Amino acid sequence: MRVFRLLLTASLVLGAPCAAQEFPDLRSQAGRLLGTPDPDTIEYPSGFPPTPAEIALGKTLFFDPRLSTDRTVSCATCHNPDLGLGDGLARSHGVNGAPTPRNAPHLHNLAWTPLLFWDGRAASLEEQALAPIQAPGEMAMDLPVLLARLNGVPHYQQAFQEVYGAGPATSTHLASALASFERSLVVRNTAYDRWQAGDDRALGPEAVRGLGLFLGKASCIDCHSGPNFSDGSFHNLGLGGTDRGRAAIVPGAAAEGAFKTPGLRNALLTAPYFHDGRIESLEAVVRFYNRGGDAPTPDPLVRPLGLTDREVLDLVAFLGALTEPLVIERPVLPPDGPCPPPVPGQGPRP
Ligand code: HEC
Ligand code: HEC
Repeated sequence: MRVFRLLLTASLVLGAPCAAQEFPDLRSQAGRLLGTPDPDTIEYPSGFPPTPAEIALGKTLFFDPRLSTDRTVSCATCHNPDLGLGDGLARSHGVNGAPTPRNAPHLHNLAWTPLLFWDGRAASLEEQALAPIQAPGEMAMDLPVLLARLNGVPHYQQAFQEVYGAGPATSTHLASALASFERSLVVRNTAYDRWQAGDDRALGPEAVRGLGLFLGKASCIDCHSGPNFSDGSFHNLGLGGTDRGRAAIVPGAAAEGAFKTPGLRNALLTAPYFHDGRIESLEAVVRFYNRGGDAPTPDPLVRPLGLTDREVLDLVAFLGALTEPLVIERPVLPPDGPCPPPVPGQGPRP
């Protein structure tokens, strides 16, 4: 760290003495361009944070395979907490066993993400949540059938009424509960965040050099900016293929083959990478950028970077420092009938 600062300072002194203000201390530069997300800045649709009861209901629903037509697939099948909320596959498998067209993204820090899906076709987590339930290749469920199914489960009847008031559960309630759980999936205490907050020992020298490259020579910051490492925009990295990405949603040449910049917190946990899962490891992703991509792209930000092998590994070390595995305990799913009365002398069911 100190050596790195000395090097930075030395290059400033030798290079351009007047450029000092353009190269402030790495920590303050990172704080300005990246930083740590602040839960107080989350904009909730109702204007207020959800209650713990609504988050708990959303969590149970998230893990419940009742949401799929044949009761085999839950949201957590493809967004598995043990796999960084992805599924470790290049492309996921839904109820029919066939691969989905795209890779399942992680769900971290989506509370701040304005447009959902790789092509940004959903404008809120509430709108997004009902899509996989009905998608034939994912859960293939008819919404009225699902609501009747949930309203028939005594636990859900009671839980929905406690959160949303009297009456049967509606699709608005279902979407709200799932979205409320998802907004609680916040990653903000990684090694990088601790370093950013002043703990010099939180990052090793490789990761600090990697941060310098991320902000400088490798210009990852041009697209992966802000506390969640995404500009929320869409870019064509020249990946080719038949998937038109953003262009299927909005017209315009710039949208052709463009996909959403994914947030990089916990990226270490969610291999394989890119919208079709074509790249196996973080090192391979950095090498992809270093060679300027695999095919010509209209985006001038994708270009050969001239990183040495050591610099590639430094960047990988920095990406690794963005990791905070969330502990998400799997809920006990409610039975179809009434909950059995507690047996005297025995604690709650495991
Ligand atoms: C069969 C696997 C599968 C299931 C089941 C599934 N998803 Fe997904 N999920 C995906 C894939 C694949 C994508 C990317 C699709 C795309 O971008 O077109 C995705 C995208 C998302 C996104 C957008 C993330 C982002 O960064 O834009 C959210 C949020 C999400 N899913 C939540 C859910 C919820 C909630 C459920 C349960 C109701 C669910 N998913 C069920 C595979 C699945
Ligand atoms: C031109 C904007 C842009 C630049 C510059 C850029 N990225 Fe990306 N990044 C993206 C987009 C867009 C995707 C998703 C591409 C896709 O799947 O089609 C992505 C995907 C990734 C992924 C995969 C994440 C996942 O969940 O699949 C990683 C890791 C990543 N970038 C790291 C970096 C690093 C490190 C740099 C600097 C060397 C960098 N990016 C530079 C826009 C950019």
